[in-house]
Amino acid sequence: VRNGEKLHLEVDHLGLTGAGVGRAGGVEGRRVEAQGVFGGERALVRIDHVQKRGARAFATALEILRAHEGRREPMCKNHAGGEGRCTGCALMPLTERAQREAKAEMLEAEFGLRVDEVEAAPAALGYRMSAKRVAFGSAGRLRLGSFVRGTHRPARMAGCLVDHPRIAAAADAIESAAQRLGVGAFDERSGHGDLRYVWLKTDGERVLACFVTIARDEALVRALAEAVPELDGVACSVQSETGNALRGGAAVHVRGLETLAIESCGVRAQVGALGFMQPNPAVAERMYRALVAAPDGSALPRGLAFDLYAGAGVTTALLREAMDEVTPCESYAESAAALGVEAMEVAEFLATRKEAPSICVANPPRKGLGPEVVRELRRLEVPRLHILACGPAALARDLEALTASGDGAFRLERLRAFDTLPQTPHVELLAFLTQA
Ligand SMILES: C[S@@+](CC[C@H](N)C(=O)[O-])C[C@H]1O[C@@H](n2cnc3c(N)ncnc32)[C@H](O)[C@@H]1O
Repeated sequence: VRNGEKLHLEVDHLGLTGAGVGRAGGVEGRRVEAQGVFGGERALVRIDHVQKRGARAFATALEILRAHEGRREPMCKNHAGGEGRCTGCALMPLTERAQREAKAEMLEAEFGLRVDEVEAAPAALGYRMSAKRVAFGSAGRLRLGSFVRGTHRPARMAGCLVDHPRIAAAADAIESAAQRLGVGAFDERSGHGDLRYVWLKTDGERVLACFVTIARDEALVRALAEAVPELDGVACSVQSETGNALRGGAAVHVRGLETLAIESCGVRAQVGALGFMQPNPAVAERMYRALVAAPDGSALPRGLAFDLYAGAGVTTALLREAMDEVTPCESYAESAAALGVEAMEVAEFLATRKEAPSICVANPPRKGLGPEVVRELRRLEVPRLHILACGPAALARDLEALTASGDGAFRLERLRAFDTLPQTPHVELLAFLTQA
């Protein structure tokens, strides 16, 4: 296939980025990933880019020739399938049920991970309690939005439907205020402009914002903070490196609240302007409760638990209710201090242990456990291991290494999947393992 070529594509299943995956010219053909088309559909697509060395090509759907029975009109005006360009909610053209079925198919086809179902979230819209925006446009014309997937092109997100209404309203108010004040977005090519990103969080009532700028500019962030009364707390941060790092240096308080008290599973944690917060706390609560129970939801046998990648400590607190003793492990200094332990990497923590606990609970970042942690868990012959994973690719690799035959091999007892971010291709997994 060549750039610009148009072809008919039979789409087999959903890919991890939300594109439909098919093969050009039959099963042996080149893998084509086409945005805007789903498993079981046939479409006329245009090839946008062919990987030079890789075996993939990327395409855009021009016309749907055979539609999925769960297709619908996306209800968001920003959606790339209609007048907008936003690619965040790639699955919005499907009903929520069809989205969950497509995610389950994706897990099996792309990663060999089999689940009974992807469990529905309580709300399909307005669920996102923490969000980020990228600033685009010159002074007077600033817009807040996102990058079109895989590009640096801007997409508008005004009135975003998956964000909590307070977050969406705050983002829109910041955009208007920035236009009135003549604030420009930092432009990498020209070097002009100041504002780069905006981080937003809500507890459902109050909103905390952090303005990330290219250089320190107290007058600008103060003027913007004063111009948006919708914000209950404002901080600022500097990100002077070019590239895609959305988090700036340490957040500096500008006005109002410095943190929000976020409650999850009855445990309260203070979250600052740039701190980690589960975007969908309602689904996170369900996942955390499932993580600290047996696969059928019953209580775990008591004893010692290790809570690996403990973060804000919600699972540590839940485990303390269920177990005799809990030792958390966390490498981020601020979180480790709040947990009352020394900051430590999980591999290093496990390497110092001679005896296995009754259970290890792990909620690693997207890159997963990795070979070193897997080796330590096998060496300790940990009798029970529960992993909550936001990255299916890494989980598939970790499961293969954990269950490969040999000493300390595990057996996968159950795998559950949660629809953490409806309308998007994101899915979170919970694996329950015991010694084989
Ligand atoms: C997906 S978050 C989970 C956080 C926690 N479950 C929560 O909700 O607050 C992953 C956590 O692991 C920590 N982390 C990342 N790599 C680590 C490592 N190698 N060793 C220990 N902790 C790590 C991060 O700082 C982060 O808090």
